[in-house]
Amino acid sequence: TRVAILYGGRSAEHEVSRLSAANVLKAIDRTRYEVVPIAITRDGRWLLQPLSEADVDGAGAAVSEDGIEVALLPGGKGRLVAVPHGGARHDLPPVDVVFPVLHGPFGEDGSVQGYAEVADVAYVGCGILASAVAMDKDVAKRLMREAGLGVARSVTVHRNDRGSFQEIAGALGLPFFAKPARQGSSFGVSKVNDRDGFEQAVETAFRYDGKVLIEEFVEGREIECSVLEQADGSLTVSLPGEIIPAGKHGFYTYEAKYLDADGAVVQVPANVPAAVADRAKEMAAQAFRALGCEAMARVDFFLRADGSLLVNEVNTLPGFTDISMYAKALAAIGIGYSRVIDVLIEHALA
Ligand code: DAL
Ligand code: MG
Repeated sequence: TRVAILYGGRSAEHEVSRLSAANVLKAIDRTRYEVVPIAITRDGRWLLQPLSEADVDGAGAAVSEDGIEVALLPGGKGRLVAVPHGGARHDLPPVDVVFPVLHGPFGEDGSVQGYAEVADVAYVGCGILASAVAMDKDVAKRLMREAGLGVARSVTVHRNDRGSFQEIAGALGLPFFAKPARQGSSFGVSKVNDRDGFEQAVETAFRYDGKVLIEEFVEGREIECSVLEQADGSLTVSLPGEIIPAGKHGFYTYEAKYLDADGAVVQVPANVPAAVADRAKEMAAQAFRALGCEAMARVDFFLRADGSLLVNEVNTLPGFTDISMYAKALAAIGIGYSRVIDVLIEHALA
């Protein structure tokens, strides 16, 4: 089975994707799968990487300009063609499945999934709709609310309709968060304590998206469950793990996640009462279904002091970096990293 691993990409999470891909390349069983590493540049070109290059260094899987440019052909059932600069186009061996190890817009949001559909090739993970919906925190929250799941209170503002600090602070209290609606890894997220902070936070968030979510601050712990759907459609939900942010970051920022080695501690399983763990697992499955997810997702929660849970968000292409929860939480219930990849590929080909 030839598996094209896509990584890098056009989103702000380009680097995170390279870290994720490095781990997928390490964990995938090379005796079962022939790996075809394809790096996507920041401007969106697909470059085939020699395996040695795609293997790991500190920055993750390589994005080398020496790789030849490739494309999947529409309707080609995995036909991969090389389009070398100045050279003649030629066919490469077709791929059987595409594994988008991409985070954020143009990868996690249904666009690459749509491209795979057009190419008529199997792909790992959620389909177009669930990918698009889960990427959009505004739409995802409306669907989860409708499914009876608790979510943080929020208002959605647009570039030309920003709302007023007065109104928002009145409705949500202080502090609150401003987040780009369609973004990951906390890019563009700020905590707002006052009116000046509001202007700046909204400006920052609008750099990433024309739609911004203003969300109440929820006092609580951050716990996360991994959901893995087997090829037969049954769901495996991990015990929750916990993200314990370390002192100085205030919330789980990009820096705390990826740059500061002491930025946060990932504890698996989370030290929570069994009833809370059960409820989180149940809600994770409900959120997965409410958004129409398939194959995999990580469902993130706030756990409040009274034991109640709110769904923060659903990630359809959760991080696979060294510090990432998705694989760790599954490993803790006996499903190792390589097995997770097997299940994902089986699911894609089913
Ligand atoms: N968006 C990052 C990769 C995550 O949710 O894990
Ligand atoms: Mg996320």
